[in-house]
Amino acid sequence: MSAPILVYHRHDVAQYEAALRARDPALPLAVCSRPEEAAAALRHAEITFSWRLPPDLFRQAGHLGWVQAMGAGVEDLVAAPLPAGAVVTRVVGLYDTFISEYVLGYVLAHSLHMLEALEAQRAHRWADYMIGRLAGKRLGAAGLGSIGRAVVAKARCLGMDVWGLSRSGRADGVAVTRAFGTAQVLDFVAGLDYLAITLPHTPETAGLFGAPAFAALPRGAFVVNAGRGAVVDEAALLEALRSGHLGGAALDVFRAEPLPPDSPLWGLPNVFITPHAAGPNVPVEVVDYFLANLERYRRGEPLVGVVDRSRGY
Ligand code: GLV
Repeated sequence: MSAPILVYHRHDVAQYEAALRARDPALPLAVCSRPEEAAAALRHAEITFSWRLPPDLFRQAGHLGWVQAMGAGVEDLVAAPLPAGAVVTRVVGLYDTFISEYVLGYVLAHSLHMLEALEAQRAHRWADYMIGRLAGKRLGAAGLGSIGRAVVAKARCLGMDVWGLSRSGRADGVAVTRAFGTAQVLDFVAGLDYLAITLPHTPETAGLFGAPAFAALPRGAFVVNAGRGAVVDEAALLEALRSGHLGGAALDVFRAEPLPPDSPLWGLPNVFITPHAAGPNVPVEVVDYFLANLERYRRGEPLVGVVDRSRGY
């Protein structure tokens, strides 16, 4: 292979380069952290291994055959002007543990009144509250990909009943007691104590959880969003939290990131806000995933994590 592999990451590209070179010093890499450099390198690249490469730059591509995202969500690549025939792959499987631990961690934090406990402790106050118990409560896993399945497994370990929502409405081998399609979102949420969103951002999921869905959630329900901000109508969520209809939320993803300092979400007493940190990239792991796919690519075998661009993930 003579055409280079364009490696692009705005902040951490040196870590990806080091991990790639440690595995194979002879790889023909074009390493870029600035869009201008990437635009030039794209003319000669056959492969990109990148995170958030500005989509318009793909117009510069001359010989691109394969686009590997350094992450799970690919809404930017799905909409990018890629050359016809270029295959897009995303990372599948590396975030399941991180994100499912995040989801169940915040579900437990809510049930155990951790915010209240910390607040009382800081005020040296012997507070009077009763913790909850997850066993017997119901969690709705919105998204039944590999991440959603890991959420389901952990929730079941804690004795929760679990419902699932997926694009197809099928649960194919996932241990949920009921499965719903996106058109049945209101029936799905109506039975939940906890809603855990790990859905990708696609035309079908954009704004799926809006005012009707929040109204349909039972009073006191807790929402975790570790999927994409665009899946939720943020104004409707804010209103449902402010009014006291929802019991709280843990939000890792937002419509605008970083979440602007003046967002009213910061000030809500019953909300955990984290900076898109639920599914961290470990460069060595992502590089190994890429290199295993590179082997397949070189041998002409099917790649892992192929994106169906019509489906959006
Ligand atoms: C991060 O959000 C990712 O999509 O990998």
